[in-house]
Amino acid sequence: MTSQLRVYVPEHPLIKHWLGVARDRNTPSVLFKSAMTELGRWLTYEASRNWLPTEDIVLETPLAPCEATLINPEPPMAIVPILRAGLALLDGAQTLLPLASTYHLGLVRNEETLEATCYLNKLPETIDSNTRILILDPMLATGGSMIAALEALIERGANPELFRIISVVAAHPALQKINQYNPNLIIYTAMIDPDLNEQGYIVPGLGDAGDRAFGTL
Ligand code: URA
Repeated sequence: MTSQLRVYVPEHPLIKHWLGVARDRNTPSVLFKSAMTELGRWLTYEASRNWLPTEDIVLETPLAPCEATLINPEPPMAIVPILRAGLALLDGAQTLLPLASTYHLGLVRNEETLEATCYLNKLPETIDSNTRILILDPMLATGGSMIAALEALIERGANPELFRIISVVAAHPALQKINQYNPNLIIYTAMIDPDLNEQGYIVPGLGDAGDRAFGTL
């Protein structure tokens, strides 16, 4: 049996609400930024299910001994926002994963060829293969930037089985390309949209996420 990329679209009213706010062309930049923070938070919440390492312990309540489960702080954890737009999801993700390191990765796509080029790489030279890595990119359009990010992580030693990818809108072309690259990856997204336009923007999408989050329209 061949494996297939797992793409989860959580059925949560908060995710639907903030996606609607983000999609609306009349949403001002300040509210768009809040919507992305909330989407980063709730998608991280969903993605961290069955992914965060826990440990079972016995502790004392004020009344009696009690079994409990806590997050295990030992295995390394990292968040990789793909700049610029991935930064808009970072605050929400960090509130849930305060112990994670943040490694910024700046990728810009050539508007004609749609190829991604790296302009900032704050990844460490080597990455422990036990590191759980949450990769943030709100718009999976062609998949080019995501694959460049995955390659950069894997060539430093990271184990893709421990990756979780978070996006807000994922388009079919990106999902197909990522599936061809590695069908064992796991993606959490607020929505899957069908198409790209000629400029490589997702339709209906939400426009340029970086410009809308940083008020540079
Ligand atoms: N990047 C964006 O910000 N929006 C798109 O629709 C595609 C890529």
